[in-house]
Amino acid sequence: MLVNGREMRSLWFEDGVLKLIDQRKLPAEVEIFVADDVEKVAYAIREMVVRGAPAIGCAAAYGMVMDGDVAKKAMLLKSTRPTAHDLFHAVDYMVEKIGQGKDAVKAAHEYVESIIDRCRRIGENGRKLIKKGMRILTHCNAGALATVDYGTALAPIRMAKEMQPFVWVDETRPRLQGLLTAWELEQEGIEHAVIADNAAGHFMRKGEVDMVIVGADRIAANYDFANKIGTYEKAVLAKENGIPFYVAAPISTFDKSIRSGEEIKIEERDMEEVLGIYPWRPKKARNPAFDVTPAKYITGIITEEGIIEVNE
Ligand code: MRU
Repeated sequence: MLVNGREMRSLWFEDGVLKLIDQRKLPAEVEIFVADDVEKVAYAIREMVVRGAPAIGCAAAYGMVMDGDVAKKAMLLKSTRPTAHDLFHAVDYMVEKIGQGKDAVKAAHEYVESIIDRCRRIGENGRKLIKKGMRILTHCNAGALATVDYGTALAPIRMAKEMQPFVWVDETRPRLQGLLTAWELEQEGIEHAVIADNAAGHFMRKGEVDMVIVGADRIAANYDFANKIGTYEKAVLAKENGIPFYVAAPISTFDKSIRSGEEIKIEERDMEEVLGIYPWRPKKARNPAFDVTPAKYITGIITEEGIIEVNE
């Protein structure tokens, strides 16, 4: 990904420590957060220094190379956030490789390189869907920041740049991950506009959205999927307005052990994230970080292996 004209990744391992672009500080500042033990990696995941399922998985893979008992590190990392499947996939991968006597740093590097390559292939597979001047709506951030490089939902858009796509960016309350998406698109010179989350239906009904592409945090065996809160309503609106709705995700996000979205655990975060911007303080708020979209709303899932037709 380009950061002020320079190629960068959202996280990397250097001199025995994990370095991450601190996504809490973006887009105002590009600051690097350094995690030199597993507790700091766990903190970075829990407090959203790093966001997005594949990137969280990659951070956890490097967390597993830090000093400490393997089982304890695995338990700590898995306790940070419950919804994104990549976290569990990455930790289990590392436990297995370490158990086989493989060098942990080498195994983590291989895991991260494979995620990056999978995202690149998602971009190649998905770019074929994008026609000249298409107006594409996305929700949350499923770009390079969320996946170390390329992105999932943003990878096809990046790779189809010559088609001059236009991107509608939902701002994504309460943590405003849409701003991260807008920042990435600006870095890449791709035209876009941020909209309040509740404006998406308006533009869909007016015929100004040609396609929706979102990422995913966990996909069940029947293709129901969890993604950032607000995704479900976009999917329902897309179907109502006859707009193709695509999910983009690597194999690491698929959880074949659960039959449907009903079994996905939805993280509920501190209500302060919702209340923080209000000039007057209501006593209570609810803050589910994700929702589940039933498979019947999905046109297809763009993966590194190709596009799964769910409801063509
Ligand atoms: O809670 P976050 O910021 O970690 O949210 C995760 C996401 O970025 C997404 O839901 C995204 O759309 C899927 S992961 C590429």
